Amino acid sequence: MNGIEKLICGWHLTEDDFMEILSEKDNPQTAVFLAKKAVQARKTFYGTKVFIRGLIEFTNYCKNNCYYCGIRCGNKNAVRYRLTKEEILSCCQEGYRLGFRTFVLQGGEDPFYTDERMEDIIRGIKAKYPDCALTLSLGERSYESYRLFRQAGADRYLLRHETADDGHYRQLHPENMSLGRRKQCLYDLKELGYQVGAGMMVGSPGQTKKTLAQDLAFLQELQPQMVGIGPFIPHHDTPFAHQMAGSVDLTLYLLSVVRLLLPRVLLPATTALGTLDPIGREKGLAAGANVVMPNLSPAKNRENYALYDNKLCTGEESAQCRDDIERRIALAGYEMVTERGDYFSGQQAVAVPAQESLTD
Ligand code: 5AD
Repeated sequence: MNGIEKLICGWHLTEDDFMEILSEKDNPQTAVFLAKKAVQARKTFYGTKVFIRGLIEFTNYCKNNCYYCGIRCGNKNAVRYRLTKEEILSCCQEGYRLGFRTFVLQGGEDPFYTDERMEDIIRGIKAKYPDCALTLSLGERSYESYRLFRQAGADRYLLRHETADDGHYRQLHPENMSLGRRKQCLYDLKELGYQVGAGMMVGSPGQTKKTLAQDLAFLQELQPQMVGIGPFIPHHDTPFAHQMAGSVDLTLYLLSVVRLLLPRVLLPATTALGTLDPIGREKGLAAGANVVMPNLSPAKNRENYALYDNKLCTGEESAQCRDDIERRIALAGYEMVTERGDYFSGQQAVAVPAQESLTD
């Protein structure tokens, strides 16, 4: 069997298998075939549901200096902000009113938010919105911090691994950061019972077919419940200002591959995809994604959470446009739902007609 066949059948894949799958990406027939299979696989567990998450970007201070990121500490032009607990709670209130039942607290690695402060914020949100899932995305912390946050009520954690190749990791990050530590955080989070999200940018400088094959092999090993994949987009105040953006088509291809590799995964059609292509998010859904994450941050801060240039933060990207988002999702043939949207861990899949089984 070749790599594509193994992927479709749910076999364990080697890095060479992934290389073979990636070599097929420019064959339009393969891309169409994988997208079709990915959509079938998603349907088995989630039907036509698309889950929404309210994204609250609560701080753009960051102690790290990643070469790709617009909120790196070395970017002296970034206008920095932090949200207070009250501001965060009022984002949740607005989100709850709009129908969101998952809140994602995302921020740079900001030492201002000590364990005590974070714990207080997490408890505050969970006390007010016990029926909502809370996802954290605040970078690398100690096992003990992750444990505290979990006990305080956090359900999920997003921490993209960015690249699973040591050499490539070095090309993207300064000396004081390490892939080993990053991976350890992901394993710690899993052990603590979080639903965990890993992922990588597509087309980041130095990325090759080989490093992408390593990313896929790492995802297969980690078995995360969520995977964030979006194209790299340069930011003008970073060392990568003049690098090329990643490819939308390769991102879509990878979304299909990841859906087939981890059929139950919660897979967002990312903002970066929507930034490079006006119908990027719809294309993401057609490739196998099943999550969208509109922005719930206060309007006055939004433009300052600039990870890359031209990042969408109004219109379709804004949670306030929930009805527009719902309409667009419906037009694309899906149903936007407001449930928590946890990882499907049950035995019973949504019934699908026999001719739509994974292996036909
Ligand atoms: N282009 C695309 N994605 C980026 N991220 C950070 N900077 C960029 C960029 N220039 C992604 C990283 C990070 C996530 C929050 O945003 O993968 O994990």
